[in-house]
Amino acid sequence: MQIVTVKSYSELSTLAAKLIAQQIKSKPNSVIGLATGSSPVGTYEKLIEIHKKDGLDFSQVTTFNLDEYCDLDRKHPQSYYTFMKEKLFSHINIASKNINFPDEDFDKYEDEIKNCGGIDLQLLGVGNNGHIGFNEPADVFQNKTHRVHLAESTIQANARFFNSADEVPKTAITMGIGTIMAAKKIILVAGAEKAEVINKLKKETVSPQFPVSILHYHPDCTIIYSSSS
Ligand code: F6R
Repeated sequence: MQIVTVKSYSELSTLAAKLIAQQIKSKPNSVIGLATGSSPVGTYEKLIEIHKKDGLDFSQVTTFNLDEYCDLDRKHPQSYYTFMKEKLFSHINIASKNINFPDEDFDKYEDEIKNCGGIDLQLLGVGNNGHIGFNEPADVFQNKTHRVHLAESTIQANARFFNSADEVPKTAITMGIGTIMAAKKIILVAGAEKAEVINKLKKETVSPQFPVSILHYHPDCTIIYSSSS
């Protein structure tokens, strides 16, 4: 695991998008794992720019999103499906049949990833409590895609996207830690507001109470951290 510290969120986004574009150029039918939340928004903006200016071709790319809320219609403005459509998919030439989100059929999601040859590159953000995907701090690492009860701190953090914390779904489906770790390459983007998490990650030994720490064991993981906003 290497931590690359850059000076600004814009630099972080440019670098993450460049690495994803390199992956797609070297393998046009790449399988890319995607994250939602604020952290990757700039990366998606830069990818759209590369698509529009340099013709980066997504026509053969397949995507698997990390997570999705339960009990929220796909068309809900705060569903992760809507988020991805607005922030990336509707601006690039990805085929809608190649876009995947987890649902209650956990085994099917795992099989679909395997049938595509596995994830070539997984993009991640990190929660203030160290969660990746929605793998919250716990006594054990959950390996596969599963349903999770969101931590109170995650509900509070995500309330900014809803009218109130009460509206934030309490459960979600997330790829498991094993699903994420099986990706051939991982890029995690963390802005300046994640300074504490990144410092803890540098020091902390691997523990399911701090899920992001598992990335110490990944053979090809780059954390892009911006020291200011
Ligand atoms: C979302 C996801 C989450 C977020 C994390 C950080 O798909 O997987 O782990 O990456 O909650 O969210 P932001 O970027 O909004 O701080």
